[in-house]
Amino acid sequence: MRHSVRFYLGDERIEIASCDPTGTLLDWLRLERGLTGTKEGCAEGDCGACTVAVGRLDGANLRWEAINACIRFLPTLDGCQVLTVEHLTRAGVPHPVQAAMVEHHGSQCGFCTPGFVMSLACLAANGAAPDTGRIEDAIAGNLCRCTGYRPIIDAGEAACRDGAPLGSAGIAKRLGTLRDDELVQVGDGERRFLAPATGDQLVAVLADHPDAVLLSGGTDVGLWVTKDMRRLDPVLHLGRVRELRETRDDGATLVLGAGVTLSDARPLLAGLHPHLDELLRRFGGEQVRNAGTVGGNLANGSPIGDLPPALIALDATLVLRGPQGRRKMPLERFFVGYRRQDRVPGEFVERVAIPKLRPDQIFHVSKVSKRFDEDISAVCSAFRLTRDAAGLVTEARLAFGGMAAIPQRAGAAESVLLGRPFDERSAADAAAALADDFTPLDDWRASARYRLAVAGNLLRRFAIEEGGTGEPTRVAGLLAQSAAASSHA
Ligand SMILES: Cc1cc2nc3c(=O)[nH]c(=O)nc-3n(C[C@H](O)[C@H](O)[C@H](O)COP(=O)(O)OP(=O)(O)OC[C@H]3O[C@@H](n4cnc5c(N)ncnc54)[C@H](O)[C@@H]3O)c2cc1C
Ligand code: FES
Ligand code: FES
Repeated sequence: MRHSVRFYLGDERIEIASCDPTGTLLDWLRLERGLTGTKEGCAEGDCGACTVAVGRLDGANLRWEAINACIRFLPTLDGCQVLTVEHLTRAGVPHPVQAAMVEHHGSQCGFCTPGFVMSLACLAANGAAPDTGRIEDAIAGNLCRCTGYRPIIDAGEAACRDGAPLGSAGIAKRLGTLRDDELVQVGDGERRFLAPATGDQLVAVLADHPDAVLLSGGTDVGLWVTKDMRRLDPVLHLGRVRELRETRDDGATLVLGAGVTLSDARPLLAGLHPHLDELLRRFGGEQVRNAGTVGGNLANGSPIGDLPPALIALDATLVLRGPQGRRKMPLERFFVGYRRQDRVPGEFVERVAIPKLRPDQIFHVSKVSKRFDEDISAVCSAFRLTRDAAGLVTEARLAFGGMAAIPQRAGAAESVLLGRPFDERSAADAAAALADDFTPLDDWRASARYRLAVAGNLLRRFAIEEGGTGEPTRVAGLLAQSAAASSHA
């Protein structure tokens, strides 16, 4: 067992034996290290003012990820390099992203600027092309209230065009020396932080501490501390467990470990269907996707999480692991009540297996939220229909988030579609049946009436898009159309 966490802050090797298990990286940087370039705006992962770059080894390669320091617990950085805006300027020479921000007038009051600089620096360091859409994605988790985004995007394009490396020579090798298979345990004398390195260690630690708080990317759990002021003990971090990060393609099935980040899952899910790419693109901002995990999104049991409806519609199977071994269940059976799942103390979500679409199946996902980017769904829908040679529906899986206390299928609407062609008429009949399936949530995000109307319209949108009328039904398509129209004007 190792009783310290080790990481690099810039080029300085840090080793900490005693720390608050849920102290944030942001507080440590600002209060302990005096690195006040990293700002606190919202303390809940929304504004990006606290963005820092984290370098981590992916096999032998070094990857740069922008993350929100405000909701990231310090001991989770074991094995990484952290760079703040202070680490970018070398020998008085600004980093190319900083220079481009000056050149393109990308800053006014400056409060948001370090966060934007760090997001763009990660993007450029990973070799992204100077593509406007990609840059917009990279900064969707950063808010600016002064400058407007065009000059910042211009600066991002210039930095990506000219190239902008991050970190110092040899850092990948130095990070390699921090790798080990020890169970890490640190704390502050009162509360403990435990970080196993293997699945077997995780099972053993969880058997000893069945009520430990499981922590993966912390994009939900972080807010329990920064917003709800909860004192968590012990905290059991899953981020070092390598098995949980594994992915596998079995030909007919895609298997994602629970610890696979949303950023890493995105290209794999995009390979199943382009709507899943769009869903993941609109999942939080880049910082949230870099930290948040597939397992965290399923296990938090939120009725408005984005992955559950999509994976339920695809008939995914969840694998849970605990002291008694492994058990499998259809994902839809995992959710048993509001934020309650079929998971006993000592168990954790190990992976999810997602069947790929067959040629006789059609699929559709929509997310409806108040803001296009970085917002939680009011309603999320996912539909998979199987049709026979005559085009009649033989199986319907219509799954919704935001319509009930749990992510749930619409049994009544599904049965309306069976044995019929899928067209605007059958979709309208199924939409009408949704009132028998759901008494939707009624909250500040959306009223029950709105949710029911939207859910029906999403089903009708599926029929319109499937019918190939060419009518634009997606915000992204409408935005692209209006951008093309204004560039031709
Ligand atoms: C700014 C912001 C934007 C967001 N936007 C979205 C969005 O667009 N769509 C959306 O769906 N969500 C969104 N979220 C919520 C969150 O990012 C996701 O739910 C994310 O997938 C959680 O993953 P995590 O690894 O961070 O989970 P954590 O915060 O680490 O954990 C979440 C819960 O799951 C449990 N848990 C984690 N891993 C396991 C496991 N392997 N086995 C058992 N239990 C486990 C934890 O104990 C905890 O109860 C957003 C959050 C923020 C802060
Ligand atoms: S302070 Fe707003 S995202 Fe961290
Ligand atoms: S420059 Fe003032 S908030 Fe962005």
